[in-house]
Amino acid sequence: MNDIKKYKLINAARNVRDNAYAPYSGFKVGAAVLAEDGNTFTGCNVENASYGLTVCAERNAISSLIASGNRFPVSIAIVAKEGTLCPPCGACRQVLMEFNPDLEIILESDKGIELFKLNEILPLSFSTKDLS
Ligand code: THU
Repeated sequence: MNDIKKYKLINAARNVRDNAYAPYSGFKVGAAVLAEDGNTFTGCNVENASYGLTVCAERNAISSLIASGNRFPVSIAIVAKEGTLCPPCGACRQVLMEFNPDLEIILESDKGIELFKLNEILPLSFSTKDLS
């Protein structure tokens, strides 16, 4: 994916971040997932007075992709505070792993775009293969 497409995904994540519901942490997160058919799905974090029920931006974005009938995310961009990396939490890594271990993770820091592969940041993951 070229840099223009990466920035498109980052911008989609920035836009949805505005809608984050984060009255408890004040930490707004936006995520945009690109599906293999070229469509983009977004999500923001949604907190709850019962704190543990909070859902991260990444999981809301991937749920939206799945609900559309897509099954294969290619890339995900995640943004929180400008210029600061927001790596996905462990729970989100596991949920994303279900659909593509090679998922490209696009983060932005003050140095520019940083890229990671999901299987690099979640090694030795438990997955459907371990159930057989
Ligand atoms: N959060 C996300 O949405 N994604 C992440 O990758 C890290 C954390 C949210 C959860 C909570 O609403 C807030 O950020 C602070 O943890």
